[in-house]
Amino acid sequence: MDWTNCLHPSDSTTDPIRFLALERDFAELAEQYRHAHEAAMRSGQVVGGAPVAVLERLVTGATARRHAIATTSGTEALRLALVACAIGPDWNVIIPALTYIATAGSVLATGARPIVVDVDEHAHLDADMLGDALAATRGPTAVVPVGLFGDGLDDERLRSICDAHGALVVEDAAQSLGSRHRNCVGGGLGHASSLSFAPTKTVPCFGNAGAVVTDDDDVAARARLIRSHGKAGNRSKTTLLGVNGALASSHAAQLCVSFHHREERARRRDAIAAHYLSRLEGLDGLRLPPMRSRTIHNWHKFVIRSDRRDALLEHMRVHGIETQVHYPIPLCDEPILAGCEFRSCDRARAWSRHACTLPLHPFLTQPEVERIVRAVREFHGA
Ligand SMILES: Cc1ncc(COP(=O)(O)O)c(C=O)c1O
Repeated sequence: MDWTNCLHPSDSTTDPIRFLALERDFAELAEQYRHAHEAAMRSGQVVGGAPVAVLERLVTGATARRHAIATTSGTEALRLALVACAIGPDWNVIIPALTYIATAGSVLATGARPIVVDVDEHAHLDADMLGDALAATRGPTAVVPVGLFGDGLDDERLRSICDAHGALVVEDAAQSLGSRHRNCVGGGLGHASSLSFAPTKTVPCFGNAGAVVTDDDDVAARARLIRSHGKAGNRSKTTLLGVNGALASSHAAQLCVSFHHREERARRRDAIAAHYLSRLEGLDGLRLPPMRSRTIHNWHKFVIRSDRRDALLEHMRVHGIETQVHYPIPLCDEPILAGCEFRSCDRARAWSRHACTLPLHPFLTQPEVERIVRAVREFHGA
């Protein structure tokens, strides 16, 4: 289907352009979603069951991993991945200064000590600073890289630094499904990775969902146990402190449908991003997402940086275009992390001051895309 020709959008030059439009997703696949939902309900097994098993197979395929364990959110998936890797109170966990708060929250929930390290031009953990932080850290240490905005992580560099210091890698791939750098796909890095299917993500759940992926049989077995109260079966003894983390079968069934349309939707995102990149190039005071060769960006977010960011946000608002800021508060300025160790967060702070995220989802029409481009160009005097 041509992404310029979606169902139900308005071509009016004044109607608001919303940041997300899940109702257009539903309208496009309504029959398939209804059918999947009904099949899950008719099976009588409303938690877990066949749809979850199918979703887990789809997720292992998309991430080239041996195991996937679906759960109730990306936040829970990251916590589960960390705990299944035996990361707990006596551990240090290095996280990037720019990410969604859930990365930090999941680490804090394990009882481990977060160490916050600045980001690079791609808003990924800065490799040199990561090396310095690892060299200065004593005791068991893990690193949680985040492929922020859907830009592929430089796995070779990360792996060599972490291996040199004996650090475990658990990837927060909440934003990375479908991204790639060289041969490493989003969700394929490190000992285990966590994915999110929150409504904002490239494969969105009409609710919340996530998954742990790993190649390690023991980590997978522990994640499954923890997901179900630490019990292998109804009458088995409890060996691990667990949670009620099984995914609803209706959510899994809907996600299986969305997964099926993942690639055509990725192509629409790509086409819109290519249009933004070509039409917004060279504007004074505006920086576009940095691009690298041999990288597939999944365009979960299209983040531009402007010297006059707050005025740009207001200009877009006046033109009826909803934008967002990812992220307005770097982790080093979050009160919940006060008392943690920070390693120069200047670049993360600069991202927070300059970032403006444009709407980019597969259901934008060509006229909407043109309006967004026109508004940004007009602001920059083009
Ligand atoms: C980087 C990152 N980590 C973790 C999460 C948490 O995922 P969820 O919202 O599914 O709990 C998100 C969600 O936005 C995220 O962007």
